[in-house]
Amino acid sequence: MNNRWNRFVYRLWAPIYDAVLERLFRQGRRRAMERLGLQAGERVCLVGVGTGADLLYLPEGVTGIGVDLSEAMLAQAEDKLPIAGCEIELRIGDAQALPLDDESFDAVLLNLILSVVPDPALCMSEALRILRPGGRIVVFDKFLPDGTEPSLARRLSNLVSTRLGTDLNRRLGDILSELPCKVVHDEPSILGGMYRVVLLRT
Ligand SMILES: C[S@@+](CC[C@H](N)C(=O)[O-])C[C@H]1O[C@@H](n2cnc3c(N)ncnc32)[C@H](O)[C@@H]1O
Repeated sequence: MNNRWNRFVYRLWAPIYDAVLERLFRQGRRRAMERLGLQAGERVCLVGVGTGADLLYLPEGVTGIGVDLSEAMLAQAEDKLPIAGCEIELRIGDAQALPLDDESFDAVLLNLILSVVPDPALCMSEALRILRPGGRIVVFDKFLPDGTEPSLARRLSNLVSTRLGTDLNRRLGDILSELPCKVVHDEPSILGGMYRVVLLRT
């Protein structure tokens, strides 16, 4: 997976993404937002905001910045603005080199992005950089269980899946192994727990 391919493939996804996937991910998104526990007055960054499906779940009084590599996906997100009671800004940017200041957010949402960016550990380290001390990160994504190897079927499926813009075979434990953060909550989500909702703190 690389940024060039991601830009290409998400330009194709952009017009159909919500129609195809909104229903599937709805429950996980709701739960991830609940776990993030945003309060009025807080600042949140949505990394790889995509079509902005998560923006619809933001509580009133929050300020948010959504960053994404794909102009086409961001154009879909733009169509969802304004969000009642929230101040939202959208920016083009790479999740692996966020165009954002250090320690400038109370919370970061990483929904369906660690399985997509070329280097998920770098993406997570950027999320930690922009997070204020004591802030929180929520991840909603699919992972291979830590310490396991993908089955042959999963490896074959991944050949297709990576071409569609997402990797089935990343392990959260590997991504976090060198990073200064800890998992404080981890719960199974959709598709029999293949997707998880995980809360992290520094
Ligand atoms: C599976 S979609 C998820 C979108 C959104 N987070 C959601 O939950 O629906 C992955 C998104 O990551 C974006 N993306 C891919 N590589 C990226 C990168 N290096 N930096 C920022 N965004 C990236 C894609 O353009 C796409 O919008």
